[in-house]
Amino acid sequence: MAKTSFLLPLMFLLLFANYGAIFSVNSSNATTDQSALLELKSHISHDPYNLLATNWSTSISVCDWIGITGGSRHHRVTALNLSSMDFRGTIPSQLGSLSFLASLDFRHNSFHGSLPTELANLHQLKYLNFGRVPSPPPSLQLYDVSENNLAGEFPASLCNLSALSVLNLNNNSLGGTIPKCIGNFSSSLLEIDLRNNNFHGPIPCSLGELSELESLDLSSNNLHGRIPTELKNLGFLAVLNLSQNNLTGHIPQGKQF
Ligand SMILES: *[C@@H]1O[C@H](CO)[C@@H](O)[C@H](O)[C@H]1NC(C)=O
Ligand SMILES: *[C@@H]1O[C@H](CO)[C@@H](O)[C@H](O)[C@H]1NC(C)=O
Ligand SMILES: *[C@@H]1O[C@H](CO)[C@@H](O)[C@H](O)[C@H]1NC(C)=O
Ligand SMILES: *[C@@H]1O[C@H](CO)[C@@H](O)[C@H](O)[C@H]1NC(C)=O
Ligand SMILES: *[C@@H]1O[C@H](CO)[C@@H](O)[C@H](O)[C@H]1NC(C)=O
Ligand SMILES: *[C@@H]1O[C@H](CO)[C@@H](O)[C@H](O)[C@H]1NC(C)=O
Ligand SMILES: *[C@@H]1O[C@H](CO)[C@@H](O)[C@H](O)[C@H]1NC(C)=O
Ligand SMILES: *[C@@H]1O[C@H](CO)[C@@H](O)[C@H](O)[C@H]1NC(C)=O
Ligand SMILES: *[C@@H]1O[C@H](CO)[C@@H](O)[C@H](O)[C@H]1NC(C)=O
Repeated sequence: MAKTSFLLPLMFLLLFANYGAIFSVNSSNATTDQSALLELKSHISHDPYNLLATNWSTSISVCDWIGITGGSRHHRVTALNLSSMDFRGTIPSQLGSLSFLASLDFRHNSFHGSLPTELANLHQLKYLNFGRVPSPPPSLQLYDVSENNLAGEFPASLCNLSALSVLNLNNNSLGGTIPKCIGNFSSSLLEIDLRNNNFHGPIPCSLGELSELESLDLSSNNLHGRIPTELKNLGFLAVLNLSQNNLTGHIPQGKQF
């Protein structure tokens, strides 16, 4: 099955709530939506079923193009679903001007390269699915992809984000185990929120190495096994939620929660 991999830009929620106008947003309209999609078409180098060559044509409204849903009144693109089309290519920055886009489903394709930072302009975007957790640039400090219906596993490449202070994967459909390398965040990481996912297996002992951690929420997963005693090393931990898992053992002593 084709894999989709991305480098994610500075991520949405907190950053853009605080610094709303980092990017200058050009006014967009149905015409700019069409040029954005034609730009995407030109970045798709492999289209084995020839879906775009004839179908994404300027002689028809973009709302009738395959994979596109548009508003009936304003004729702006609201959903882009290119899942399972076996495309290969990259994502152009112009997608960031689809300002009415609420849903983006790119599962089961082979897009590669970085996700353009301009995607952070998409304030209507509620649903984002790349089939896996996108890997952000290594200097990222705040990684928040909560409530995105992301599927796939916790990629070990995330452990390379040595400047990360907040990791929020809350409320997705992520599975697999929590990798041992989560301990590699060492001194930078203050907050981990993995609640409302399908992580299974044990809680890695390496979490005990996150010496600055203040908040750890692993609730509502399928974790099992013993709660590692190493958690007692987390001297700054103020919030710990392990509820709705299948864990045994005791909350480690050494810290009052
Ligand atoms: C759409 O927006 C572009 C760029 O902002 C502008 O040049 C163009 O005139 C607009 N078209 C319409 C129909 O408003
Ligand atoms: C493009 O694809 C859509 C959806 O499959 C279809 O309804 C439409 O007729 C196609 N248009 C052309 C010109 O091929
Ligand atoms: C995209 O299309 C596929 C196949 O038609 C469908 O299974 C999937 O639910 C769609 N995604 C969204 C977000 O609607
Ligand atoms: C926005 O406008 C500037 C200047 O007019 C232009 O250089 C830039 O490419 C535009 N960006 C988009 C996403 O259209
Ligand atoms: C999880 O996210 C969905 C939207 O993706 C939302 O409808 C739902 O309320 C959220 N659930 C929780 C428990 O936050
Ligand atoms: C972490 O970064 C190093 C150096 O950049 C690289 O060699 C390694 O493959 C990365 N690990 C993962 C899991 O991405
Ligand atoms: C985590 O750290 C260990 C030991 O320093 C190293 O061997 C491993 O490659 C690192 N993993 C990642 C994903 O960076
Ligand atoms: C702990 O997590 C559960 C499930 O996610 C949640 O319902 C509960 O409110 C949380 N407890 C606290 C004290 O936040
Ligand atoms: C919890 O784990 C025990 C074994 O550790 C197992 O027997 C039991 O079925 C599990 N319960 C659930 C609800 O998964």
